[in-house]
Amino acid sequence: MNKHVLIALMLLLCSCVQMQSSSTKVAVAPTLFERIGGLPVLNIVVSETIDQSVNDPKIKRSFDGIKLSTLKQSVVDQLCVLTGGSCVYEGETMQNSHRDLKITTAEFELFVEAFRTSLNKHVGEREKNELLKILAPMKRDIVTN
Ligand code: HEM
Repeated sequence: MNKHVLIALMLLLCSCVQMQSSSTKVAVAPTLFERIGGLPVLNIVVSETIDQSVNDPKIKRSFDGIKLSTLKQSVVDQLCVLTGGSCVYEGETMQNSHRDLKITTAEFELFVEAFRTSLNKHVGEREKNELLKILAPMKRDIVTN
């Protein structure tokens, strides 16, 4: 093999290695779930939102007799799935689980306000807005009064 062919082969090999290493570095955009800080942050936000709601005389009536630890876990699972986390939500649809509660627009808004207050403390502005955007369309299934 002459010198020039050898150099050409080496250059080819080099560029192949480069291509391979650059292709393994393709950045995958983090999910919303990852950006908010995963389950630890979701657990705090859901817990604060529900605790605030249960202590607010204007919306607490819906939570009478409800096992809060189970409800919190269910909401966390649901938000985990909706934000791209690898959880499993085994609960009811929003329509079925809220049908009998006869929730009003005012109650829904107070709940979302509690959620927003907690998000302000624990996630970034962009993540907060993305989460609120996920909740907004649920209003039509939750508010039945
Ligand atoms: C976008 C806002 C809301 C979301 C994402 C949400 C999410 C959920 C989820 C995932 C469940 C569990 C369903 C299951 O396990 O089968 C649930 C149940 C429940 N939600 Fe909501 N909810 C919202 C708004 C509200 C509001 C505004 C109230 C009351 C003011 C409320 C009160 C309840 C109660 C009391 C239950 C338990 C029902 C039962 O076990 O019979 N939720 N919600």
